[in-house]
Amino acid sequence: MSEFTKNWVYTDTVKEHFMNPKNVWEDEGFKADGFGQVGSMACGDQMRVGIQVKDDRIIDLKWQTYGCASAIASTSMMSEMAIGLTLSEAYHLTPAMITERLGGLPQHKFHCSVLGDKALRAAIDDYLAKQNRDNPYRASVAKVICECKNVTDQRIEELVKTKQATTLEKLREITEYGTVCGKCQFKVQQLFDEYKHIYNV
Ligand code: FES
Repeated sequence: MSEFTKNWVYTDTVKEHFMNPKNVWEDEGFKADGFGQVGSMACGDQMRVGIQVKDDRIIDLKWQTYGCASAIASTSMMSEMAIGLTLSEAYHLTPAMITERLGGLPQHKFHCSVLGDKALRAAIDDYLAKQNRDNPYRASVAKVICECKNVTDQRIEELVKTKQATTLEKLREITEYGTVCGKCQFKVQQLFDEYKHIYNV
């Protein structure tokens, strides 16, 4: 490592993946069976992931990002972990699993690991849609955020992504989150902001 990078607060594994990222999408001739893109160029952290699939297993994966060191390192690690996995296993990869393999990320950088994970799921969604197949994995990764009204993170994500809820007021009108005990409000607000950022809404 150079003098420049040695004082970074990142682990050696993060530094290695940032300096020598694996499976970067450099060859424009790479033919993706499924493609996912999330994030926003305006915020400088757009991410795209392409997968090649055989017998429901990811046999190759390429990615490209304009994100920060943490986004690059975590997506590089994600690519190494995802190649060889079944679609189901890959769909259940979490930012926490990727971050653990990196030996951790600074707390304020954890959210940067979310983009690669989201782009991978988007690529799997795209692959299954192109095959005209149901997505059996989506429901199994949903988390209930508002228990009183049974509102999941996926429901919020979908409403933001499809621009049905462009404001928190609209989201509340549709889902009625926060209208009973109110304890979910902060979490919903955080997720809403995160999805707006990811889907550039
Ligand atoms: S948990 Fe959302 S209103 Fe109670």
